Parts: sequence; C-alpha cells; structure tokens
Amino acid sequence: MVAQTIPVKTFDLVIFGGTGDLARRKILPGLFRRMCAGQMPADARIIAAARSDLDDAGFRQFARDAITEHVKDSQCDESGIERFLASLAFEHLDIFEDSGWKKLKGRLREGVVSAFYFSVGPSLFGEIARKLTKFGLTTDDSRIVVEKPFGRDKASAVALNAELKNCFDEHQIYRIDHYLGKETVQNLMAIRFGNALFEPLWNAQHVDHVQITVAESIGVDGRGAYYNKSGAMRDMVQNHLMQLLCLTAMEPPSKYGADSVRDEKLKVIKALEPVSTLNVVRGQYLGDDGEASYLDHSGDPQSRTESFVALKVNVANWRWAGTPFYLRTGKRLRGRMSEIAVVFKDPPHSIFEGEFDRRGNVLVIRLQPDEGITLRVTIKEPGPGGMRLTEVPLDMTFAEALGDKIAYLPDAYERLIMDVIRGDQTLFMRGDEVEAAWDWVDPIIAGWTESGVRPLPYDPLGSGPEDSLMLLHRDGRRWREIKP
Ligand code: BG6
Repeated sequence: MVAQTIPVKTFDLVIFGGTGDLARRKILPGLFRRMCAGQMPADARIIAAARSDLDDAGFRQFARDAITEHVKDSQCDESGIERFLASLAFEHLDIFEDSGWKKLKGRLREGVVSAFYFSVGPSLFGEIARKLTKFGLTTDDSRIVVEKPFGRDKASAVALNAELKNCFDEHQIYRIDHYLGKETVQNLMAIRFGNALFEPLWNAQHVDHVQITVAESIGVDGRGAYYNKSGAMRDMVQNHLMQLLCLTAMEPPSKYGADSVRDEKLKVIKALEPVSTLNVVRGQYLGDDGEASYLDHSGDPQSRTESFVALKVNVANWRWAGTPFYLRTGKRLRGRMSEIAVVFKDPPHSIFEGEFDRRGNVLVIRLQPDEGITLRVTIKEPGPGGMRLTEVPLDMTFAEALGDKIAYLPDAYERLIMDVIRGDQTLFMRGDEVEAAWDWVDPIIAGWTESGVRPLPYDPLGSGPEDSLMLLHRDGRRWREIKP
C-alpha cells in the first residue's frame, strides 16, 4: 500500500537556476516523486528560469535525464514521466537584465499559489527579490524559497534578511535547511511529544549527556571552491547540527505550528553558552599511501579550512544545566552515519554484585542510514550460573516497522517543497533563528582566525582527530562508534 498523501492546491513554481545542480539532483526528482505519489495537481506548472539557451523541449530533456539518474524507485511508468514533463516550461532569463521578467510574468496564472525557488548563490537573492517586486510577479500570497548558506556570519545574514524583507514579509520567506525535511528529524518531535514515556526523563536529572554525530565518508572532492570558504562549521554546524540540537533540547511547543516550534528552537540557541577553545576540536583529513588529503581535494595547498569539528556545548537553562551536548561532524570519516544519542544516567544504585559495568540506557535516533530508533537496555544474560547482566538493543527500523505503509522514505526536498506550496513554515528556519545561530558560531570561527592555528590532521576513513576523542574521555565518556 502506498502511503496516503494530502493533495496540495495547484501552483506555479518558478525555479531560478532551474538547470543547476540542485534542480537536477533534488528539486526536479523530488517534484516528480510527489507527482507519482498523487500529491501534485495535474495542472501544476514548473518553470525553470536560467541564463542557458534551452527551450521548453531542451529543459524537458534535462528533467528526463535528471529523473533517469536520480529516481531509482519510481512509482511511475513512461506515461507518468510524460505527464510530469508536460508540466515543465523554460524561460530564458538574465536576472540582471530587465528583459525577460515580463515574459516570465506572462507565464504565471492569477489565483493560484506562486512560489519562487532561489536555487542560486546567495549573492543573487537580493537582485531576484527586487526584480520580482519591480515587475509585479508576486502577490501577498507568493512565497520565496532560499537555500543555505544563509550568510557566512551574523553581519551578512542580517544584510541578506534585510534585502529579502525589503520585498517580502517573513511569512513569505522559506529558508531551507534540508535536515529539517528528513523523516527521522520530524520523528524526533513525534517521539518526544507523541509519547508520555520519554518527556519526564528528558532533562539533566536523568540524561547524562547527548551525542549528535553527522559523519560522512565522502570528501570534498569537486566542491573545494565552495568548501574552502565555508568549512564544517559554516557548512554543517551552524545549520544542520544546530537544528538537531534545538529539536532535541527545546521545550515542548504548545502546538505543532511554525511559530510555536521556532520560538522554542530560538530559546535554545539563545541559551547556548559560548564555547571555549578547550571545548572545540577542528580537523582536516590528511592522507598518505595514495589516500587523498583535504589539501588535494580543496585545490589550495595552504588551506586552513576544517573538514571536521567536534564541540562540547552547554545549554544554560533549567532543563539542561550540567548535561553537555557533544556535537561532531566531518568529511571522509569511517562511515556515513547521522544520529542523535541520548545517554541516560546509570541506575542510582546497583542491587547486583559482580563485575558488571553499569551503563545507562541509550536512546539512539538514527537519521541515516537505516532510519529508526534503538533503545539500549540491560537484561539478564540467559542461562544458569548466577545473575549476570548484559545489554541488548530494542531496535526499530522504520522501513521494517511500517512495512508496506511506506513505499520508500521520501527525500527531504520532496517534503519541504510541498510544505512551501501548503504554506507551512514549521520546517523552515526563521530569520531571527538564523541570525542567533551565527551569533553563537561567529566567535568560535573568529577565535580560529585570530589564533591562525592549523586544524589537526586526521586519517581518512577514521574517526576524526585524537583530540576529539579526548573531548569526551576527559569527562569519563566516550563517543559512539562510527560504523563503516
Ligand atoms: C549539505 C552540505 O548541506 O549537507 C554538504 O553542504 C553535506 O557538505 C550535506 O555533504 C549532507 O547532507 P546529507 O543529507 O547527505 O546528510
């Protein structure tokens, strides 16, 4: 059985940069899958606006290639593909020129939801916003979608917000953090607030610490030009990891709605203590024996950009005081593994004698791969010979547990684009949230720049620099293993 989806109203979606990499890998395949799932209205229109010399037919071929390459689990046959392609159009547009905008406007229908996806670099956001307003392409109900990176520090994020807000209201601006579109990330809220079991234990009294890991096995090959100016802190921590931290640490919102959830996340960011240099480790992968290094991949032999960061973070509020959150992310690590592990305290007193090493329960929320939840519990080792204890996982993989209720787990972009059309901002970052995140991150990056210290080397396909292990060891804790 295919999961039931709620159809959305018909829409005109304009994708600026519609022939770019994101459109090819994510946006077009995502929209196609939604159409196959019966969620996209038959008369919805998708218009790519770009500088290339394509026409409608050329763009449809581009989309067909994108689908062939990136949709392996299609629920559609050839007639479905044809139906999707028929909804596509192409408009040649140089955003700095005035010509072209009127023609694009002519493509838009009155009385339907119009959304404008800025799938271009942030330096173009302001110009597109201005032109959209100047040429009257938008109404109060139009939405714009912008991608990360949203600025590279607080000042640039404030400037970007101001540019967009000159032309649009906050309720029209959808800032994407694709981690919020991941099924398991939303499940984190379902688990916390849909069960009475966890919430009473979800605090410093019962939780020893929390580990958030986003490990990738790929390097930065091919993305050096972007990544060198960014690094793991800007590329991953300021957005994806902080969002995971917020959803784990926030207070229960009064309802599942855009402002109630985002208000609570903002409170967490504002409660983060500044991170001292002692509590942050940055690394760069350094290969030998034919293994490539970050420096080869980045194209800059002198680069001091970090491809790995680990941090110990304190959330200074009543719920979490004394319970650290350890965050780590890196490229070219042993495996691709993203998870949130909530490590509970040991039982206060052991009634069992012997050598059993008492260890608390751990709730692991696996984002990828193998999305699901595991609860580590202690049980008796089977058989006679005394009371020996052991630990076992209570394991739940969503794909297995939900069986034929899910044909596949949708990609984050599928969900997020449909939320834009629906007008639901819950899974998008609000302007003040992004600025507050930079407020916290900026001093850490400034500290690195001032000190001029190189990131610590780590082995490709390892677990990161030794010092990142020490970050926990010195607190008497240890990271969970990154599995290959
Ligand atoms: C992107 C980063 O936002 O997220 C990439 O720019 C990173 O560097 C990617 O590889 C990871 O996303 P996912 O969904 O593959 O975990």
